[in-house]
Amino acid sequence: MRLTIFGTGYVGLVTGACLADVGHQVVCVDVDAQKIARLNAGEIPIHEPGLEDVVARNVAAGTLEFTTDIELAVSHAQVQFIAVGTPPDESGAADLKYVLAVAESIGKSMDKRKVVVVKSTVPVGTSDKVRAKLRDVLGGRGSDLDFDVVSNPEFLKEGAAVNDFLKPDRIIIGAATDHAREVMKELYEPFNRSHDRTIYMDVRSAELTKYAANAMLATKISFINEIANLAELLGADIEEVRRGIGADPRIGYHFIYPGLGYGGSCFPKDVQALGRTASDIGYDAPLIAAVEAVNNRQKTTIFDKISSHFGGKSALAGKTIAVWGLAFKPNTDDMREAPARVLIEALWDAGAKVVAYDPVAMAETGRIYGQRDDFVLAKDKYSALEDADALVVCTEWQQFRAPDFEEMAERLATKLIFDGRNIFAPDRLKRDGWTYFSVGRAP
Ligand code: NAD
Ligand code: UGA
Repeated sequence: MRLTIFGTGYVGLVTGACLADVGHQVVCVDVDAQKIARLNAGEIPIHEPGLEDVVARNVAAGTLEFTTDIELAVSHAQVQFIAVGTPPDESGAADLKYVLAVAESIGKSMDKRKVVVVKSTVPVGTSDKVRAKLRDVLGGRGSDLDFDVVSNPEFLKEGAAVNDFLKPDRIIIGAATDHAREVMKELYEPFNRSHDRTIYMDVRSAELTKYAANAMLATKISFINEIANLAELLGADIEEVRRGIGADPRIGYHFIYPGLGYGGSCFPKDVQALGRTASDIGYDAPLIAAVEAVNNRQKTTIFDKISSHFGGKSALAGKTIAVWGLAFKPNTDDMREAPARVLIEALWDAGAKVVAYDPVAMAETGRIYGQRDDFVLAKDKYSALEDADALVVCTEWQQFRAPDFEEMAERLATKLIFDGRNIFAPDRLKRDGWTYFSVGRAP
């Protein structure tokens, strides 16, 4: 099938490349001319394992193209995906201006019947707004140029996006007509050969399914972080508790790892947007508000531990703190809402110097913070430790899990670690003379 994807961010680029990979003829269009130029030069603007290969082989095969030409993109295909950003506006609601701008573009250039697929994460009722925008733009042309608006939310995770897209747990299709369902069935047929993963539903339920999934996962994280804080105060070990509750298949082991709070471009904004949707219709949703509040507090806990260890915020002035891990999670260079940012900014505020290392997010961090006297991006994980007063682990990259502790001890001024991801064994560190703080375990 011929497909057009609006937006070449994490979702649009992965969707376009993977749909080309299973045999479709895909055009990806973006308003960011620089991004399209980089893609056309064979450069992938994001760090996403495996994506470069999928893009390269499909560009070479002629099944994947990148353009800024909207008219060409609209005329290319019967199916038009909207995969642009839906960032929060000042009120916390999802800002639909990019989604509706795409709807307008499609409407303006529409020459025959189209299926418009909303893949961006959008509040319930957005597909109706897309439909209204299309009708509005089509004006008098609307009667013979019919269209469908489908909700097809995306569930991929950054860092595992290609694999998640090619092997989805489920494909959610919210559609109102048989025609739209048939088109979507044909489009996703290559993913359903071993067993049918598609769940068809009405459009509003599909839109809400996406928010419910992210809010449920965020709830699990805030819950375990709440229990971790209790465990610390009560002298229990959250890692034992995690294993103990995860063994119950009704709870399961996924998404109950305690840490520094969830970050990324999705959970924070989606939980906030769901809360906003509830308040807009006059529904009090205390659980959703609590998930967000617990998470915001969790992001500050590591700074509080550092500050209290050194004897208060003012004692941090002039100290050097090494930070391992900057990205909001491993295997990505995405720094959006990363807990490391909350820590680093609090350390600066207290007058400390930060020396940081991340396997892939250094360039992105440099872009965000620029040159500062109190910030050094180290060339590797060990050189980040040179004469630092403490090490803080913010992201659980594989390469941090089994370091050379002797070399670390030689480089650091003090054998002191604050581990925000529980990647080290407390007994071993204690035995070797380290002072070790982690999450949900007594120091
Ligand atoms: P992103 O910010 O990485 O990319 C969005 C892209 O859309 C940008 O390249 C931007 O230039 C482009 N764009 C903006 N307006 C445009 C227009 N009018 N025409 C064409 N292109 C336009 O965003 P993302 O992370 O890919 O997220 C996109 C959507 O998917 C969001 O709603 C997000 O919540 C959702 N989502 C994201 C993920 C994820 O892991 N990042 C996973 C599932 C769902
Ligand atoms: C998340 C969802 O997992 C995807 O299914 C969804 O499609 C996506 O949001 C989205 O809607 O954009 P992502 O944000 O890429 O994906 O990353 P996750 O792996 O879910 O991690 C999110 C945050 O939660 C990270 O900061 C991570 O460190 C934290 N986390 C995760 C924990 O603190 N504990 C856990 O047990 C799991």
